[in-house]
Amino acid sequence: MSQRLALFGDLLDIEVDPGFAAPGDAAGVRYRPDHWLLVEDGRIVGAEPARAGSGPDASWQRVDHAGRLITPGFIDTHVHCPQLDVIASYGTALLEWLNTYTFPAELRYADPLVAASGAERFVDALLAHGTTSAVVFPTVHKGATEALFTSARARGMRLVAGKVLMDRHAPDGLRDDVLQAERDCADLIARWHGNGRLSYAVTVRFAATSTPEQLAMAGRLCREHPGVYMQTHVAENTDEVRWIAELFPEARSYLDVYHRHGLLHERAVLAHGIWLDDTDRALLRDTGAQIAFCPSSNLFLGSGLFDWQAAVDTGYRVSMASDVGGGTSLSMLRTLADAYKVQALRGVKLSAWKALHAATRGAAEALGLAHEMGHLGHGALADLAVWDWAVGPVATHRDAVARRGRAGVSPLTALHERVFAWMTLGDERNLVATYVAGACRHERG
Ligand code: GUN
Ligand code: ZN
Repeated sequence: MSQRLALFGDLLDIEVDPGFAAPGDAAGVRYRPDHWLLVEDGRIVGAEPARAGSGPDASWQRVDHAGRLITPGFIDTHVHCPQLDVIASYGTALLEWLNTYTFPAELRYADPLVAASGAERFVDALLAHGTTSAVVFPTVHKGATEALFTSARARGMRLVAGKVLMDRHAPDGLRDDVLQAERDCADLIARWHGNGRLSYAVTVRFAATSTPEQLAMAGRLCREHPGVYMQTHVAENTDEVRWIAELFPEARSYLDVYHRHGLLHERAVLAHGIWLDDTDRALLRDTGAQIAFCPSSNLFLGSGLFDWQAAVDTGYRVSMASDVGGGTSLSMLRTLADAYKVQALRGVKLSAWKALHAATRGAAEALGLAHEMGHLGHGALADLAVWDWAVGPVATHRDAVARRGRAGVSPLTALHERVFAWMTLGDERNLVATYVAGACRHERG
């Protein structure tokens, strides 16, 4: 007997990248209010409108979310599991923040009990924010990496992660060495890459904390294990960029350090990418690597304003990320609201359509996973989030005004007004339930 689940609500997903088109002109917005979403054995098999007296028969478990929004679960393409301990730490920019708060917190993950409870807390927190999939930094410790994979496996999540590589410029207890790290990575890849929905990422913290020998080893791992991902940080902060230029005088740029070591490819996810030039941007496009835009972190650490328009003009891929604990919330709604503000400071208007696409289908495509997630199309796994359109008197009033509509605007513009207000005012308090591959993994209250 197959497992049949039918969820009723307002279905919203974004099928193609709308670019920076005006909200009323965007292509690819699929809005199906008052529909049943049909899920069989964890996969979406269809959607049908409600008609009087009809609806899925008794062979379906029916869950009525009438008047609520149902979206694909969010995909957070850059977030640090151990940094829930240092989220919202005062008063520093990147390099001082790492030394003052972050490295001491990550040291504690040498303890298997800390690592196991931290991993459980982290994946449950993702689900409690409507995030069903993530690309994650654990710590340098092999055990902490296994703990993270174990927790994600138990919940059926698509999680991409790998042991952090760092063999210099980090405190005792947080450094590895090339030989042992290579053995640990090979072992972790064998055990976890392709285990359920888990994927391994060769995880270079950033160029400053790896010797050239370790970067070469990381490149070798990517070559020898063609399906694995690569994740790192690039060009986040101007002091960091200057430091990398001193450490790698032979490289043309920060990004070029990674390119020289064979780390840029279509499964490479690089966080930030604020301080890039046109040659770097072309290199991202030509290698197929993506930038994870982390607006909350970039604002909080005072790093800078990511140039998304230049990414679109060049044609490289951009996804959305919380970067907790540099970022101050796991909520992708808050992340998207911050992205809007960062782009506003650059004179660019980010529609809710483009923002939502980048955090769902766009991320899935950039990760090569659009066949299984990021949308509500037939055949995708049912990774879903169910939301209240509004919570609290201010948002509820705003939603009611948006629903009444404005004279003379198109239906798509009117819908955007409502969705944009939800995106801008909403957060995890709006979340009603989260499903992973059709299984309910979080419920409010
Ligand atoms: N660069 C190197 N490590 C980190 C980190 O943990 N967070 C951020 N935001 N940037 C980094
Ligand atoms: Zn980061």
